[in-house]
Amino acid sequence: MYINFWYPIARSSEVTADKPLKVTLLTLPFVAFRDTAGQAHVLADTCVHRGGSLGAGRIKDGCVVCPYHGWEFAGSGKCAHVPSLGRDAKLPARAKVDSYPVQEKYGIVFAFLGDLPEEERPPIHDIAEYGQAPWKAFLYVLDLKAYYERSMENGLDPIHNEFVHPLQGAPMLSPERQRQPLPVEDIPWGSKFYVPFGDKLIHDTNLSTVTTGERVGAAGSWHQGPNQLVTWIDITATNSFHQYLFEAPVDENSTRLFFINMRNWLTEDKHDKRMEDVTLRVVSEDIAILEKLNPVRTPDSNTKEILLPGDHAVVRYREWLKKWDERGWRIDVKALKAKQGDAALTIPCPGRRESGNWVLDTVPLLPGTAGNG
Ligand code: FES
Ligand SMILES: [Fe+2]
Repeated sequence: MYINFWYPIARSSEVTADKPLKVTLLTLPFVAFRDTAGQAHVLADTCVHRGGSLGAGRIKDGCVVCPYHGWEFAGSGKCAHVPSLGRDAKLPARAKVDSYPVQEKYGIVFAFLGDLPEEERPPIHDIAEYGQAPWKAFLYVLDLKAYYERSMENGLDPIHNEFVHPLQGAPMLSPERQRQPLPVEDIPWGSKFYVPFGDKLIHDTNLSTVTTGERVGAAGSWHQGPNQLVTWIDITATNSFHQYLFEAPVDENSTRLFFINMRNWLTEDKHDKRMEDVTLRVVSEDIAILEKLNPVRTPDSNTKEILLPGDHAVVRYREWLKKWDERGWRIDVKALKAKQGDAALTIPCPGRRESGNWVLDTVPLLPGTAGNG
């Protein structure tokens, strides 16, 4: 798990100005809420007075109010009012909690959990066709008892389709192609493959009989950063499924998936239920496999598994993770767990580069090698 990436926090509709929402990500607690202008904010959940959970509090005048002694924190993270000190009191300089940059896209509130300045931050994946006719989009939020890197790797693995999703009419790759290394190319912050598939990709829903237009017959997947995954299945020039997965690592054993499923054909409402049934069945087939993998986390060394040509995209993903290890962005989860319970920890926010005097400790990070750790 890494600092310095954008993470999905909640559906936009769950983040309100009525009640704070507590969420766990990267094993740590955060609170999300809206101010009076409707702007969403994500803060460290731990009150710096004596450790109250802001997410268990309430919202007043656009501030989140700690349930323990009523300290009020603005979206900036600064304490705006301490009731026991009175209205015009000078507040302690350290009365502030980490506040993270927020973006809302695709019906999701994202927070940048890290301290990089804006110009250095990796992007949230841009879905160019989102909101464009004739595309239709559905957002699903799903909980998975598995480590997010295992889930990401599953999305970068075309060979499993034949075995895990037999009703989908796999194999996606011809036997000849399965024996060659997947053609993986690098993109900004990640890598991708996009290859032709056999005629049998989709047959159980009879979709192949209603395809129109010039056949493309290609599909591929790519990752951007450690937790954003794209899969395109382009059946013809006008008949595609595009899937976007934004993964929130909750802890080392569980992940919340924000899954946007899009299609640009069969867009009449009468097809929605059937499409949803197929999609959720496929996802549940993946989840059944992922929740039983041993070890739960990806092994530290590739020698602890046997990786074949069809695993090429998985290998490249792991190489990208190493780059972020080198930058010193990987959380030292063992050290973190040893401290939790005795210390309140959080992810450093960008504000820590501008001012000192913070109460919460920041998460331990594994040392990098690129002079940035
Ligand atoms: S612990 Fe939050 S106000 Fe006291
Ligand atoms: Fe799958």
